[in-house]
Amino acid sequence: MSQLRFDGKVVVITGAGNGLGKEYALFFGKRGAKVVVNDLGGSMKGTGASSSAADKVVEEIKAAGGVAVANYDSVEFGEKVIDTAIKSFGKIDILINNAGILRDVSFEKMKDEDWDLIYRVHLKGTYSCTKAAWPYMREQKYGRIINTSSASGVYGVFGQTNYCAAKMGIHGLTLALAREGLKRNILVNSICPVAASRLTETVMSKELLANLKPEFVVPLVAVLSHDDSKETGAIYELGAGYISKLRWQRNQGYFFDTPFTPEDVRDKWEQVAGFGDTVYYPQTSSEIFEIFFNKEEFIKQQKEGKTSTTQTQQT
Ligand code: NAI
Repeated sequence: MSQLRFDGKVVVITGAGNGLGKEYALFFGKRGAKVVVNDLGGSMKGTGASSSAADKVVEEIKAAGGVAVANYDSVEFGEKVIDTAIKSFGKIDILINNAGILRDVSFEKMKDEDWDLIYRVHLKGTYSCTKAAWPYMREQKYGRIINTSSASGVYGVFGQTNYCAAKMGIHGLTLALAREGLKRNILVNSICPVAASRLTETVMSKELLANLKPEFVVPLVAVLSHDDSKETGAIYELGAGYISKLRWQRNQGYFFDTPFTPEDVRDKWEQVAGFGDTVYYPQTSSEIFEIFFNKEEFIKQQKEGKTSTTQTQQT
């Protein structure tokens, strides 16, 4: 079987001095890509800075026969990060927005600084690096972008309101960018990885961490970053060797005869909020208009106790 190669590709990986980013960088270096290893080199809470984290990874890639350069700017300044790729290698093909920190604290005790810093590194940083890479990708009609979301954002976690909001925001960015990039062969996806790193070593047991090697996240990132990939706008949960895709689900819903009252909604709560046997998987924001425009048919089928045919059910 042929190996997935990245010869001739230029890849920028943010936060590549440690954890997951480091594994991606080592992988791409071995598979023929020219790698920009970005890392601010600060603490996991976002304080301090050092060039040593990025430098060590660059040295490791070079020692294995690969090509890499370091960049030490914060992802908040995406232009500087992408500029390193342009100045060193003349282009940017693949961007892996991975840099991250944590400022966990209950919402009640959260300070503006905790909120702002998480926003700046995660959502603003992802925006900023992508914004700087975008014109080059558009021009060359090629781009692969992997954004790092999190199960925390998808499901919500106590003590992480700042992080959850930023991580779900990142997936919103992915969804819209995927649509804007499609015609120019720029594919954009999100991942929700779970892996042993300094961000997780204090909150998970040793046994669990032993099975959560960061290198287990690399294969999906490689597939989504490859020339052959067609996937865009998707979000995956993965870790420990397990990979799965997520999607939105909509219930059957209930169409009220207008005008209607709060009491009507209360009395039909099960139909409005419950998930019965019938579920739908909407993929665009315009699909709901199919329902709006087919009101009479929907209400007729509703009265007959039938499943609505105005939405398509996918498997
Ligand atoms: P890590 O702490 O090992 O690596 C993150 C790297 O980002 C560090 O080297 C750090 O110096 C760098 N960084 C932080 N702020 C930066 C900035 N402003 N500019 C440039 N570099 C910066 O963490 P890990 O676990 O490898 O996390 C990578 C990404 O995956 C993060 O976005 C994290 O939120 C996300 N993630 C990780 C999970 C896990 O289980 N490890 C779970 C869900 C999401």
